[in-house]
Amino acid sequence: MWKPHKLSPRGPVYLAIADSLASDLEAERIQPGERLPTHRALARVLGVNVVTITRAYAEAARRGLVEGHVGRGTFVRSLAEKPRVRARRGEGTGAIDLSQNQLALDPASFDGAALAKSVAARLGDALQAGYQPGGQSEHRAAGAQWMARAGLKVDAERVIVTTGGQQALAAVFATFAKAGDTVAVEELTYAGVKSLAALFRLRLHPVAIDEHGLVPESLEEACRRSNPKLLYCMPNLHNPTGVVLAAERRKRVAELAERYDLLVLEDDASGFLLEAPPPPIAAHCPERGLFVTSLSKSFSPGLRVGYLAAPAKELEKLAQTHAALIWMTPALTAGIASRVIQSGELARVVEKKRAEVRKRRALFQKILGHLATPSHPDAPCVWVTLPEPWRGEEFVAAAERAGVLVSAAETFVVSRAHTPHAARLCLGTPSSRAEVETALGRLARLLEGVPTPCRALV
Ligand SMILES: Cc1ncc(COP(=O)(O)O)c(C=O)c1O
Repeated sequence: MWKPHKLSPRGPVYLAIADSLASDLEAERIQPGERLPTHRALARVLGVNVVTITRAYAEAARRGLVEGHVGRGTFVRSLAEKPRVRARRGEGTGAIDLSQNQLALDPASFDGAALAKSVAARLGDALQAGYQPGGQSEHRAAGAQWMARAGLKVDAERVIVTTGGQQALAAVFATFAKAGDTVAVEELTYAGVKSLAALFRLRLHPVAIDEHGLVPESLEEACRRSNPKLLYCMPNLHNPTGVVLAAERRKRVAELAERYDLLVLEDDASGFLLEAPPPPIAAHCPERGLFVTSLSKSFSPGLRVGYLAAPAKELEKLAQTHAALIWMTPALTAGIASRVIQSGELARVVEKKRAEVRKRRALFQKILGHLATPSHPDAPCVWVTLPEPWRGEEFVAAAERAGVLVSAAETFVVSRAHTPHAARLCLGTPSSRAEVETALGRLARLLEGVPTPCRALV
């Protein structure tokens, strides 16, 4: 009969039992298909209440470790997954997700009924729209209006409506970089850009960052050594560190772009959270600046609408790539985006999201703040330096067993040689603050202990 190999003395007993089951399974001390003891039998052996075992088995089932069969008992599940496309990491496990850079949309923060009515009214227009690769002029104007909030003054004619920010980045990479070219990026960068670099066979040259954002001297060195075609960066609320690039440095980056004939691709996915962002780099070098924003974080990633602004002389090439990739963004979703921007609804949703981020950050400060690196007070993601002896991937695996999804530094690093023992926690993903508090509590308990030792190997 299985009984926990080792029970942690910390935290609730039911969690310790579920943790122990997970590590026993990993260490092959128990095999898939084995039947677990009855609740009563295990309670007797461990000298605990039957309710504790019931909760432990429920927790194990939630993590996908066991499954119950009525009348037959509880069985250990196979860890080998059937091949399938998962909708998202942790799907069906009930784990609290702090791994996705996302800001939950509170249904009470906007007028859903009015929006639905306007969608219905626009359906006819959308179906009659025909092919308009750059997007309808009204939709491009809405994009320009939203970009103005970030301090970028751009004519609607220079805006392409894209299917989210990622598709805009793909269009820029596909247009301006060919296999073997180098793109300069912050040394910790957005994982989606690492995927694009792999897809297009591009080299990424890491540029140093500190608490004021990317370091211009390091960018200059990158330009001298690797001759990059493009700099990709996130000046506002950098993902994953939550830092804002200092205004002075933005000017320096623009100067370097001129000197080294560099295009600057500025990704403003989360900048809407800043009440008064410094002027974008593109405002200092309009002939070299490409600017991307999207409604994924400010409103919903389900909408799949973003905007790309480009210098006049680059527009035609970009428009051709955009058309080659997807022809156009669906007119219906672009229309919804236009409506929420032009009616002021998006600005109101953003206010509420910003207030919620601040509350969640206050919670984080109380529970795990001592481990955070400096970031802007409106940053929805925090970058946590793990205490000794934890390592990033090890922490991610242990957190997942404890029912919390997070991302390790490995996800964001460009050079293997500089992988900090750190993790990103996205406080905005869960739909409720209570879930954030529960998740942070679990992580704090985990980090009070040490990682489960690996199986002895010689
Ligand atoms: C920095 C950054 N840029 C772009 C994206 C992609 O956003 P979208 O959903 O608009 O494609 C993300 C998504 O997480 C992101 O974090």
